[in-house]
Amino acid sequence: MEYALEERIGNPDLFSGRKEELTYFLKWINDIKERKSQSSALLARRKMGKTALMERLFNITFFKNSGVIPFYYEIKEIKMWVKDFCKDFFLTFIYQYIAFKSRNPEYLRPQSRSNFEEVARIAQKEGLDYLCAIINDAAHAAAHEELNILWEIVRDAPKTIAARRNEYIVQMIDEFQFLNAMIYRDKNMKIQANDLAGGYLSSAESKIAPLLVSGSWVGWLMNLLMMMLPARFRYEFLENMPEEEAIEMVYKYSQFFEVPVTEETAYLLAQMAEGSPFYISAIIRSRYRDKNLTTIDGLTKTLEFETLDNQGVIKLTWMEYVASALPRINDRNGKNIVLYLCKHRDREVTRKELIDELKLDIPEVKLEEKLKALVKSDIIAQGTSNNRYQGVTDNIFDKVFRGVYEEEIREFDIGDIAKEYHEGFEKLKEQYNRLLGRYNSQKGHFAEYAILDRLRIHGREHNEFLKSITRNLPGDFNFSDYSLVWKYNSSPEYAKDFSVDIFARAQSPGDYSVIGEVKNRDLKKFSREEAVQFQVKYEEIKKIENLERAVGFVFSRCGFTEEAEEYCKEKGIACSDDERWVGD
Ligand SMILES: Nc1ncnc2c1ncn2[C@@H]1O[C@H](COP(=O)(O)OP(=O)(O)OP(=O)(O)O)[C@@H](O)[C@H]1O
Ligand SMILES: [Mg+2]
Repeated sequence: MEYALEERIGNPDLFSGRKEELTYFLKWINDIKERKSQSSALLARRKMGKTALMERLFNITFFKNSGVIPFYYEIKEIKMWVKDFCKDFFLTFIYQYIAFKSRNPEYLRPQSRSNFEEVARIAQKEGLDYLCAIINDAAHAAAHEELNILWEIVRDAPKTIAARRNEYIVQMIDEFQFLNAMIYRDKNMKIQANDLAGGYLSSAESKIAPLLVSGSWVGWLMNLLMMMLPARFRYEFLENMPEEEAIEMVYKYSQFFEVPVTEETAYLLAQMAEGSPFYISAIIRSRYRDKNLTTIDGLTKTLEFETLDNQGVIKLTWMEYVASALPRINDRNGKNIVLYLCKHRDREVTRKELIDELKLDIPEVKLEEKLKALVKSDIIAQGTSNNRYQGVTDNIFDKVFRGVYEEEIREFDIGDIAKEYHEGFEKLKEQYNRLLGRYNSQKGHFAEYAILDRLRIHGREHNEFLKSITRNLPGDFNFSDYSLVWKYNSSPEYAKDFSVDIFARAQSPGDYSVIGEVKNRDLKKFSREEAVQFQVKYEEIKKIENLERAVGFVFSRCGFTEEAEEYCKEKGIACSDDERWVGD
């Protein structure tokens, strides 16, 4: 697939997991064509991958080209005069629209985003003359500084064009909360235009150009949606990645950034990060000098650096958020409250408990205000009732916060945190060993990654050995060097389950590429039905990827049924149940 919009994630191959969310939102986007999709807000704690997901949705929708036009806009955290903002918003939309219609991604990176004549000229050149009317309207309002009208025109532009042309547009607006906080009515930026978001009251109900909004200040964003746009948005929550996807991400980042991990440390890291893509990425890419992610000790030290050292990215990131909420909590009570909630983060705490336990000497109304401010800046969470609060259930945030403030508040030894990390890892290690025990094996809980590594690093070198433990290979087959070895996901096809565990593209066209499936089950044998399904995927991938020579391969730890074995032989699907594929 081609990635038209440059994604912040960097190399698009790094994008991992989020299968469920992609499937859900791709269907939501597709349903726009039947006017079934309601505007939605993508909510998650910060750094959970909201932007990464939206950018990917843009690219898939752009590439699929099946009747819904994607628009993505991020409201920046800089003060802007409303006229400049409107121009930027409008021209970004128009250029993205032209890029989609002309199938030319170059227009996603225009020279300038402030020149109405230029964009009108380009629209004409691409045969989209009908855009000129709305471009002229916006240009006219801008020239005469009719700012209310200008905002109306540009805000509704996606809806207007969709309606005029009988088209469907998905509007993805990131950092939506800044709409009310960063835009000013006057050029000198003294008078805040704090009601722009409210303008979406009617547009948000559009079924032909619904919105998907998100933002990094969740408490603030939710507050804004509830106050100004009540009942206009469905809330969709993005959670931590499930274990399987977190482990996939660890291996992917480890391979890409050339930071080795072992099976054991990959598991420990994914677990300790609780499936947060930000923590995983920060730890693997950490600038800690003695970084070594192949041992528990190395992992602990890297995590300590990232969360306690002033240069640690995790600490820096969290402190930036805490600092902007700090004027509100910059008193001993505020910090004490957060520390108390962090400590008891596995349960909700009432205001009364806070007052009693912390011996707070402030009126309850004041306390409620303070807590509200903390909730708004995502430092703590609202519990199930207005009177209940909970610390964020994130064991890494807890340590960053304590590392910074606990010392100020009470006697505290920073060494305690290191000890907690170490103990945490040891506990996870026990958990991991129990998992291994299920297979009576010391290796291979993540068999597909072991096999991927094997092909990537030792394919050619171990050729004879691997051939000797694999059945049904063609006579002239050899394991060779591969230019790409990874799992295969055909992104635009998320609606179907269309992925295989192994995709190894041969470097030279004369060699065989390998498309494979790994079954790491302890009891169930690979069945004929599974073999048939695999064969279908194999054929399809071979075609999509233009592979002349390829071999299908199935590794099943506990073997194959007789019928499956027969089918594989007939179709030339290579098979193995030899544990040595996974072990050393
Ligand atoms: N699915 C993913 N695969 C790989 N890396 C990811 C994924 N999602 C997020 N990341 C990485 O995690 C980090 C945070 O992601 P992102 O900026 O998308 O989160 P966010 O929720 O938009 O953050 P913020 O709250 O600051 O807006 C980035 O470094 C990003 O590259
Ligand atoms: Mg973001």
